[in-house]
Amino acid sequence: MTNPRILIFLMVSALLSFLASGAKNARAFHSGGVGECEGCHSMHNSQSGFSAGSAGASLLKGGDASSTCLTCHQVSGDTGPSSYHVSTPSGEMPFGTPPKQLSPGGDFGWLKKTYTWYADVVSPMASSAGDRHGHNISAQDFGFQADSKNASAPGGSYPSSALSCTSCHDPHGTYRRNQDGTISTSGKPIRDSGSYDTSPTPDAQTSVGSYRMLGGTGYVPQGMTGGLAFSFAPPSAVAPSDYNRSEATTLTRVAYGSGFSDWCRNCHTNIHNGTYSFKHPAAGFASGASAGTLDVTMINYYDQYIKTGDLTGSAATAYFSLVPFEIGTQNYSILKSIVTTSPTKGPDLADGSPAVMCLSCHRGHASGWDYGMRWNSKTSQITYNGKYSQESLLYQPYGQGRTEAEALQAYYQTPSLKFDPSQQGLCYKCHATVPQ
Ligand code: HEC
Ligand code: HEC
Ligand code: HEC
Ligand code: HEC
Ligand code: HEC
Ligand code: HEC
Repeated sequence: MTNPRILIFLMVSALLSFLASGAKNARAFHSGGVGECEGCHSMHNSQSGFSAGSAGASLLKGGDASSTCLTCHQVSGDTGPSSYHVSTPSGEMPFGTPPKQLSPGGDFGWLKKTYTWYADVVSPMASSAGDRHGHNISAQDFGFQADSKNASAPGGSYPSSALSCTSCHDPHGTYRRNQDGTISTSGKPIRDSGSYDTSPTPDAQTSVGSYRMLGGTGYVPQGMTGGLAFSFAPPSAVAPSDYNRSEATTLTRVAYGSGFSDWCRNCHTNIHNGTYSFKHPAAGFASGASAGTLDVTMINYYDQYIKTGDLTGSAATAYFSLVPFEIGTQNYSILKSIVTTSPTKGPDLADGSPAVMCLSCHRGHASGWDYGMRWNSKTSQITYNGKYSQESLLYQPYGQGRTEAEALQAYYQTPSLKFDPSQQGLCYKCHATVPQ
């Protein structure tokens, strides 16, 4: 446990050097590295009316680590998706109304939405519990509780009771991408975020933050045992600056480069393999999981597939953000150019080794569907009669208790009419037939 006096001393000295460095962007907070200490820590026990927590809680502004993050990342009164906000207050998403944020990781508000429905006259009532909708971060000040079913990460041992924003993101943003492409926790100072197409390129004097300040090799949050420390580096990716937005007319493309599946395996070591009920490859070269790259046949099929019954698509416009893939490269000039100049192009062997990865199917935070899936994998078709929901009907085998507004939001505002009126699940974006 850190002595509070030492902590305050560290904060004051760091703040002074932070102010002296002058290198940070005034609008930003973390800028890819450690933000101003006072954004998260309270120097005095009752500062700003926040509970400072116990000394063991590192004098945080919130009651726990996640609550501290949510003091800025969940804001009341947003009229729609808004920049770095990743959660919607409970009171702003009453029954039938979806959470507001549409960031690539997804709105944690979905964890508070439980759905029930009857599929037909004979089946018992079915349900989709809120805590099935993704990563249940504990945030006591905001009503988020640990998962009630999984005691630990499926396929691994990370305890659900300890899952917080800082399980995945390093609050002090120490992981940095260097000029030679390596990732380290020390060395050159972090100049800015490394997550965007507009981020600077690391040079001889400065580095940039890891993608989304995700923890890398050796990362373990304070208070966790070393046995849970990460084995794999942060993934390589580039997001557009405008990443939290409706996809009603144009899609949001994150250029996922490589390393996502290995990064998720930091906690889900043995998922979808061996004895696991649902088997599926997810390429990860650091872990030796080389299966999962898209061969020429699958690339061509991805390019042609528009929707059920429509294979008239082409490579230049084939990308679909509800079924993304890894481009298969760590080359940031390629990743940045894809985000800025060809955001809709499909998998391309000229860019790297495109592959299926965890985020092809799941979202990093949460979604409107079970298991944080990008689409509803619990039904044979995701539209029925051209709609996502059967909200006014007695039996709802496809919409499964979600209102049209909720399902539409869960599909990031993709109009249902972009799909076939009886659209199959999105496994078919890659597979002509889904193998059993
Ligand atoms: C984005 C929020 C955030 C910012 C900004 C931040 N911290 Fe922290 N800090 C945390 C959290 C959260 C913890 C507790 C670790 C945990 O629970 O994962 C922590 C823990 C600590 C600890 C004790 C544990 C350790 O890791 O040694 C010290 C010391 C510390 N912070 C110092 C600082 C200083 C100095 C600054 C400013 C340069 C700073 N922090 C900025 C969030 C932050
Ligand atoms: C004082 C307000 C504040 C607090 C507290 C805060 N954030 Fe942020 N966060 C921001 C702002 C503003 C941005 C967007 C600008 C930026 O990235 O600097 C942001 C951006 C981010 C990003 C994207 C950064 C990137 O470079 O891609 C992540 C990830 C993030 N925050 C995680 C956290 C986590 C985890 C915590 C808690 C440990 C936290 N934040 C606490 C204000 C805050
Ligand atoms: C299980 C790991 C995990 C946890 C827990 C987690 N994040 Fe994230 N977060 C990610 C990943 C992975 C991404 C990148 C998503 C993408 O680009 O598709 C991300 C992205 C983000 C972003 C950028 C916007 C977005 O959604 O893409 C912000 C801001 C952020 N996280 C903040 C938070 C905050 C605040 C918390 C806690 C309330 C949190 N994260 C908890 C893994 C996590
Ligand atoms: C720091 C550890 C950690 C990392 C990294 C992590 N997870 Fe998890 N994950 C967990 C824990 C713990 C649970 C169980 C608690 C829960 O379901 O909320 C979990 C649960 C899940 C679930 C089941 C959700 C449900 O509602 O049943 C999915 C799906 C998942 N993770 C996918 C991912 C993906 C994809 C990534 C990489 C982007 C990832 N995880 C990275 C710790 C982690
Ligand atoms: C092809 C799509 C796909 C890919 C790729 C994929 N998953 Fe899944 N995942 C699913 C589906 C579908 C389920 C639900 C399975 C079921 O119903 O039993 C699931 C379930 C899970 C669960 C919950 C398991 C449980 O027992 O509660 C976790 C955790 C998870 N996936 C993590 C991952 C991680 C980590 C990766 C990458 C290494 C990954 N998934 C890759 C589709 C996928
Ligand atoms: C982003 C593309 C992509 C998506 C989406 C996708 N797959 Fe796959 N799938 C692959 C690749 C690549 C392989 C490995 C190559 C192969 O076997 O053809 C694979 C293999 C499989 C296999 C054989 C697995 C084995 O180990 O024998 C099954 C079964 C499968 N997929 C089912 C599914 C299901 C079900 C879904 C939807 C939940 C799905 N896939 C979604 C790309 C994808």
